[in-house]
Amino acid sequence: MAFPAFADSTPTAKCRFLGQKTSFKGKLYTCIKGKSKGKTILKWDSGKVIPVASPSTSQTPTASPSSSPTVSPEPVIVKKNEIPIAKSSEVSVNSTQSFTAKNSNGSETKYILARNSEGLIAMDATCPHQGCTVAIAASGLLCPCHNALFDPKNGAVLRGPASYPLNRFEVREVEGVIYITD
Ligand code: FES
Repeated sequence: MAFPAFADSTPTAKCRFLGQKTSFKGKLYTCIKGKSKGKTILKWDSGKVIPVASPSTSQTPTASPSSSPTVSPEPVIVKKNEIPIAKSSEVSVNSTQSFTAKNSNGSETKYILARNSEGLIAMDATCPHQGCTVAIAASGLLCPCHNALFDPKNGAVLRGPASYPLNRFEVREVEGVIYITD
């Protein structure tokens, strides 16, 4: 009966004492007791494969910044007492325009809108002197009754007899529409 040849798989070092260890061809061998021709001998065991340290994968994947969640726009809420009086496009920057709309009481009312460095301003076209309706003129907002003159940018008094500026309203632009609260 032919035995497999162990020559190639046996350590070349001599097995001298029990527990002796040696590495050979990637295996760790231990010296153990064995039998040969009825005698107790020392021999190398079958060996254990020495684990090869795998290269550490130090490159930890960096979490790619996720795209920022899109914030859904808040729903547009127009208050009950807000009155749409013009389109935003109708009041360009550095301009003053007049519009007529019904106020919350249903009364036809003339309003003046101005857009400038102070922002968008909504004014009542009613003269605070005696209640006439001011109109846009070359010199400003002019009252036809007693010639009071108001600043077209903000309604401030430029000339009497009016003592008070034009009344202002809360104004808001929502999706291209100008609303005032009156
Ligand atoms: S009512 Fe406007 S100036 Fe008198």
